[in-house]
Amino acid sequence: ATEKSAVFIIFGGSGDLAHRKLYPALYRLFKAGMLKDHFAVIGTARRPWSNEYFRQTVITSLEDFDDDKRMMENFAMHFYYQSHDVNDSDHYIALKQLASKLDDRFDTEHNRVYYMAIAPRFFGTVAAHIKSEGLKTDGYNRLVIEKPFGRDLNSACDLNDALSKAFTEEEIYRIDHYLGKKMVQEIPNLRKKNPKFDEILNNKYVSNIQVTLGESLGVEDRGGYYETAGALRDMVQNHIMQILGVVAMDEPDVMDAKSIHDIKEKLFASLKDLTPDEVSKKFVRGQYDTDEMGKLNPYRKEDKVEEDSNIETFAAGKIEFDNERWSNVPFYVRSGKRMPKKSSRIDIVFNEKVADLGIRANTIVTLFIEPDEGSSILINGIDYREVKQNLIKYPEDPEIFDNAREAYESLIIDILAGDKANFTLWEELKSTWKYIDVIRKQWDEESPKFPNYLSNTMGPDTADTLLEKDGNSWIWN
Ligand code: BG6
Repeated sequence: ATEKSAVFIIFGGSGDLAHRKLYPALYRLFKAGMLKDHFAVIGTARRPWSNEYFRQTVITSLEDFDDDKRMMENFAMHFYYQSHDVNDSDHYIALKQLASKLDDRFDTEHNRVYYMAIAPRFFGTVAAHIKSEGLKTDGYNRLVIEKPFGRDLNSACDLNDALSKAFTEEEIYRIDHYLGKKMVQEIPNLRKKNPKFDEILNNKYVSNIQVTLGESLGVEDRGGYYETAGALRDMVQNHIMQILGVVAMDEPDVMDAKSIHDIKEKLFASLKDLTPDEVSKKFVRGQYDTDEMGKLNPYRKEDKVEEDSNIETFAAGKIEFDNERWSNVPFYVRSGKRMPKKSSRIDIVFNEKVADLGIRANTIVTLFIEPDEGSSILINGIDYREVKQNLIKYPEDPEIFDNAREAYESLIIDILAGDKANFTLWEELKSTWKYIDVIRKQWDEESPKFPNYLSNTMGPDTADTLLEKDGNSWIWN
């Protein structure tokens, strides 16, 4: 791996995301030699930690993955801590001085990665201070933003306005960690390598496409955040939409970031608008109850959750596009907590016309995103590696199906390379929020009868009727 140079400034450096995802990801890049002598990480947060203590927490966060003490210590020597109040200008000046000192020490070419691993309400404030206190350098200055990016179109616009006063769109990297997952990244390649597959990926041959992001866990300790979100905002607006983007976009002529985004933008702009009265016909929601044995907490009894909460922990819907390739093909999507198991998958259901092309009628191609080991492709229930039928060529390089590289590692590699293909652009977000807002607004006006599904089940019955009305059914059920 070619070595990269940068100073990372991690806002929220003492937090959970940083320790669970970012530091382990950076460490793997360190082991791979992509980060070596010319990088430094400044963690900032309110609490007054010493560099020593910070480094110790970093090492602790790695111990689950590795036991190479020396390597971990060498890595941690690149870490510095700066106690920081996001509203205090003086703190940014101190941060700037520290960063430029580290620039000299590690010879990092004045490159900066500003990483927002903090509460979203601070995104704008921090960005504004980075600009006003002159932290930006003559190297590159990349701003990394975690979700949620707003809670509706209006707030997303406000946030974007605030960020764009300090950073250009070119400099902003909006994370959707699903775009960092191996299998999601592999889909465009799979389509390219298998012209026959891509050729039948349209309304002539596809009956419907199903995207499921199922989780077995409940909200755990995130009740506070989840009460402001719900499954629609938490999973559908971002992860599910981005998966649809990858599956349904036309094939770009070249696989570079700009072409991919132009094509995705076009796809999202063609989302078939929902009218408020279509919402109840095309979207359903649910909230988990206890399980059959009465052992698990119902959502309403979870920590930091209102006793009469109407927040949905399950959402399913039928999304359509108004374009040549996909008009009249339903994209059924669903995401829920407390489903029977963790499974992120895409089921592509072909119709009987594929028989004209020598493919078995009503073939189903399933792309497993997670957690199945080495994501695999199933055709009509048979693992493709054992299928002779020449619909999809299994990628020659088995390495690319190695899920070992975590989403965050892959996304950080992209950030360091300045490759924006796997990040969400503003225009895409605008279209998806506009679409989601109609559903949210309608839902907020009606009181659902919650809870309406037992934990460890496939969600409310209405999720099944949604497809049955069209003569279809969920492939995973
Ligand atoms: C996050 C959501 O974006 O994605 C969580 O906020 C959810 O609620 C998580 O659990 C699922 O991600 P993954 O990678 O575990 O499928």
